[in-house]
Amino acid sequence: MPLEAHGGKLVQQVLAGEELKEAAGKVPYLRQVVLGGVALSELELLATGAYSPLEGFMRRDDYISVVENMRLADGTVWSLPITLPVDRALAGELREGEEVALAGEDGKMYGLMRVEDIYGYDRLKEAREVYRATEAAHPGVARLLAQGEMLLGGPVRMIAGPPADFPEFHLTPLETRAEVAARGWRTVAGFQTRNPVHRAHEYIQKCALEIVDGLLLHPLVGATKDDDIPAAVRMDSYQVLLEAYYPRRRVLLAVLPAAMRYAGPREAIFHALVRKNYGCTHFIVGRDHAGVGNYYGPYAAQEIFRQFDPEELGITPLFFENTFYCRRCGGMASPKTCPHGDADHVVLSGTRLREMLRRGELPPPEFTRPEVARVLARGLAESGEMAG
Ligand code: ADX
Repeated sequence: MPLEAHGGKLVQQVLAGEELKEAAGKVPYLRQVVLGGVALSELELLATGAYSPLEGFMRRDDYISVVENMRLADGTVWSLPITLPVDRALAGELREGEEVALAGEDGKMYGLMRVEDIYGYDRLKEAREVYRATEAAHPGVARLLAQGEMLLGGPVRMIAGPPADFPEFHLTPLETRAEVAARGWRTVAGFQTRNPVHRAHEYIQKCALEIVDGLLLHPLVGATKDDDIPAAVRMDSYQVLLEAYYPRRRVLLAVLPAAMRYAGPREAIFHALVRKNYGCTHFIVGRDHAGVGNYYGPYAAQEIFRQFDPEELGITPLFFENTFYCRRCGGMASPKTCPHGDADHVVLSGTRLREMLRRGELPPPEFTRPEVARVLARGLAESGEMAG
């Protein structure tokens, strides 16, 4: 029995065959809305069902309900707005009910949208409710405050997917589910990451692997903040790590082409629901999941799961406390398993890690595997600057 998508049905809005031909024929006669990189990735995620049950950018009723209650207007749990912001001038030219062509900044046509709703919204309210912050120092809030003042809502259909950065690892929810089925996995833990896999990440993944059939290592490779490590360097680091330290047939590496929002708790729910659509039965939530700076408590992203019934989420969260290498235990541990103090624990900040790599020193193997450290050192040398 394949796992149900969120809301019951895996949405498929990718045009093919006759429908695609028909769409291509009418595109030249439609008004165009140009999508930036993030909106284009949202189009792809909507059309391939990663955001099931959403079939398009949110209409006003869903948007307000999500911002205020973390639910769609019909009550289905959904924690982040999926919106198409445009400026007032463009919104003024469009009519509700009109079909528009969705173009990329490269001038290519990527999709069609039936504009059912054109509406204004309160960005500060969205910032407060979704990010629990209103200042532009928060990278998710900064993007929200900079975006257009009006939103377009309505269903989308995709003509072509945006260029994939890692084609070999770019699997749609349907393709990912097929791979999971082919491997015979009945339980799959999803792992979200925007960082290289350090020993702490490896430990919690392997704890999960002790109880589930397979791990979907699912790095987010859409837009991230400037000081996050570039996705290409991270992808190299995942591959050397898997090669050397994981049983090959028990891990599937594939990418999530979504943008990072740094919305902490709300993004943890979103990340879990999206991974359910990719076929996961479990989802790992560790310390300060999807957090940034000190905006969220270290376990706020776990506590938020208590606000929902397990059945309405339909994916089981696996919570982990802060994990570290303990010299006295002689292994990876957490406050749940280790009685020793901070002095015995190997903990490295991103800044310290960067300094070491820049000086040509490799970080301790208790923090990062040497294979990963070497990829990071090379990436740092090539790209100039990056965080850990
Ligand atoms: S995130 O923004 O994608 O959450 P990151 O890639 O660092 O950032 O984290 C991936 C997952 O590992 C998240 O669930 C996070 O909570 C968890 N995690 C990261 N570091 C630790 C740690 N030291 N101890 C426990 N969990 C951790």
